[in-house]
Amino acid sequence: MIVSDIGSLVTTLRAAGCVFAEEEAALLAEAATSESDLKGLVAQRVSGVPLEHLLGWTEFRGLRVAVAPGVFVPRQRSGFLVELAIGDRHDPCVVLDMCCGCGALGLAVATELSATGIRVELSASDLEPAAVACARRNLAPLDAPVHQGDLFTPLPANLAGRVHLLLANTPYVPTAAIADMPPEARDHEPHTALDGGPDGLAVFRRVAAAAPHWLAPGGRLLVETSREQSALATTILAQQGLTPTIAKSEELYATVVIGTRAAAG
Ligand SMILES: C[S@@+](CC[C@H](N)C(=O)[O-])C[C@H]1O[C@@H](n2cnc3c(N)ncnc32)[C@H](O)[C@@H]1O
Repeated sequence: MIVSDIGSLVTTLRAAGCVFAEEEAALLAEAATSESDLKGLVAQRVSGVPLEHLLGWTEFRGLRVAVAPGVFVPRQRSGFLVELAIGDRHDPCVVLDMCCGCGALGLAVATELSATGIRVELSASDLEPAAVACARRNLAPLDAPVHQGDLFTPLPANLAGRVHLLLANTPYVPTAAIADMPPEARDHEPHTALDGGPDGLAVFRRVAAAAPHWLAPGGRLLVETSREQSALATTILAQQGLTPTIAKSEELYATVVIGTRAAAG
């Protein structure tokens, strides 16, 4: 750790609106390679660069996950989707992390299921080259392929009808609401990761329409939405022949809609 005047760093960060200024100061000091590097990191943080992009990692469900500039920073609330997903005890379990970003959701689900002895076959996919590169780094230890392209287009045909858990944290901010987001997200995360079209559900609709083709009988599609979007999202799932449910976590302020394909027979 670079030993600097931590007190003045904390004051600078707090004045810039960082709520967890003490913790951030300690993490930046830990990451810096010299005093001047530390100064540079603090200046970038004050200008609004997300802490996670400066550190190059974030913690998600107890895992250290690499996150690079230009890649969506996983939110703690998405841990709720992971919790719901791992309720599935299918063995072996085929997991697809669609719109994977840095791959945090797939990584957490695969790690937590594997810890219970379940054999997991994980694949991931994203449109953005920066996200795909980051996910490849995170998922390399699991030997999980990360495909690049528009939604399901780059996936191998032999995955069709075999997916037990389809995780999809699709972009769900209505286009007009992006301007009201905190500058950290609005100015430093790619809008392809945020913009869900006029009602926030444009990408979700496309995922829901394709999901029955990729899901195994009894397989589940799990998608994070806002509270306001969840009722409409369940209607969309039902229109695709999936049985919809809504799950809410007060603790994480998270909403997940689940569409289940009918079991065989
Ligand atoms: C809200 S971020 C979620 C990332 C990651 N799942 C997470 O929770 O950290 C949405 C992701 O969807 C990707 N995306 C947007 N449109 C896409 C498309 N048409 N096909 C594939 N990925 C897309 C973005 O690049 C971004 O990484």
